[in-house]
Amino acid sequence: NLITLVVDNARLHTEKQQRIEQLATLNARYIASNEQLKVTHERLIKSEKRLNDILDSLDSVVWSMVPETLEVLYLNQAAKDVSGRAVEDFINDRQLWMSIIYPDDRARVQNSLVESIRTGMQKITYRIVRPDGELRWLFQHMHVVYDKAGKAERIDGITVDVTQHKFNEDLLKQRNEELQLALDKIQEVQSHLLQSEKMASVGQLAAGVAHEINNPIGYINSNLTSLKGYVEDLLALLAKYEQAEAVFADAGRLAEINAFKRQMDLAFVKSDVLDLLAESHEGAFRVKKIVQDLKDFSHAGGEDDWQWVSLHAGLESTLNIVNNEIKYKAHVVKEFGDIPEVRCLPHQLNQVFMNLLVNAAHAIDKEGTITLRTGTENDTVWVEVSDTGKGIMPEHLSKIFDPFFTTKPVGKGTGLGLSVSYSIIKKHNGEIKVDSRQGEGATFRIILPVDSSAEK
Ligand SMILES: Nc1ncnc2c1ncn2[C@@H]1O[C@H](COP(=O)(O)OP(=O)(O)OP(=O)(O)O)[C@@H](O)[C@H]1O
Ligand SMILES: [Mg+2]
Repeated sequence: NLITLVVDNARLHTEKQQRIEQLATLNARYIASNEQLKVTHERLIKSEKRLNDILDSLDSVVWSMVPETLEVLYLNQAAKDVSGRAVEDFINDRQLWMSIIYPDDRARVQNSLVESIRTGMQKITYRIVRPDGELRWLFQHMHVVYDKAGKAERIDGITVDVTQHKFNEDLLKQRNEELQLALDKIQEVQSHLLQSEKMASVGQLAAGVAHEINNPIGYINSNLTSLKGYVEDLLALLAKYEQAEAVFADAGRLAEINAFKRQMDLAFVKSDVLDLLAESHEGAFRVKKIVQDLKDFSHAGGEDDWQWVSLHAGLESTLNIVNNEIKYKAHVVKEFGDIPEVRCLPHQLNQVFMNLLVNAAHAIDKEGTITLRTGTENDTVWVEVSDTGKGIMPEHLSKIFDPFFTTKPVGKGTGLGLSVSYSIIKKHNGEIKVDSRQGEGATFRIILPVDSSAEK
């Protein structure tokens, strides 16, 4: 027994010894792995710190949260700069982010969250309100992480403050609009320049032609007046001679005279000669008016003086003159505003009114209305002549101010009315505009500075 005891003891001892060795190795291993773990842990901590440092150095907000509970899993420091609130506040109060979103944008952000869970990704731009009330524009990109069962486990996002971009964008847009306006202005000025260039060259031609025609038409006119008197006298004399025929002694001569009368058709000549004269007179008068128009057009008068006058008086007197042209067709309505006297060349302005009124009457086929309106705007006075006539075809709108452009039959229009008017208004530093739709009448608007001469 003792032997067995000794043997057992020895075995146990060996086993113990072995055990101790085993334990020692295990311990060494443990220590080694623990060392390893410590190193790894330190590395992890370092790496996490590095990551945090990197994320905290960003201008953009980086975040992660649980969609179901809105629990904030991660939020970097940028949240403070962008929102003006402490990062901890967002971690402690899950509703805080939603609550600082600009009320008008809140529903959209909520929808985009829901939508991101469906599609896995979502981008949105919205506004937040900072504690001092300042608005910031944010651009947010969200990415959803799902678990094995396909349930949305996390939403990771990055939110960038784009206020400055937005501001630049708006500025750019505004600049663009300003540029567009400037371009429109340039185009308008250019078309006016073109128009006045055309006017100038046609004006020179017109002045020359008018000068050449003016003299002959002058004496033709006055001669025709004298001629009419002479012919009337001669006809009266002839009548007296015819009365004397009854007491004429020489029957042969009388037969000869009567034969001649028949041959020349005296009865017709007597009735026609005055008609011919009247017609010629009218024709010559028309030529004279055209020449006058041409002269007015080329240098728009000159004999006229700048005066302070009431445009209403001018409109009324012009209406009286053209009444004949319009009274059978058009009902005239006056909607006069309260306008100041205007410094202008009154005769020439009256000519403009006349051209517009006659045009309006011509545009009305059978029956219509011509409305005269006046009013003020800033330092200008405007006059409108509006008719319910046939209107102007769109393709004619750019041509109506061209000299000699007319749609009227020969003899009815020379196409000078509006070009003359244009140059007169230009001389007054004013504007003449037209608004017309085919079949719906036309409205011509003249805009004049109160003191045209002041701006010269
Ligand atoms: N109120 C209007 N309604 C419709 N068309 C118009 C009107 N005013 C002008 N027009 C058009 O513009 C053209 C040019 O007008 P403008 O007054 O220059 O010449 P005109 O009337 O034809 O001849 P003029 O005035 O020299 O006798 C006209 O022929 C007509 O086609
Ligand atoms: Mg006309």
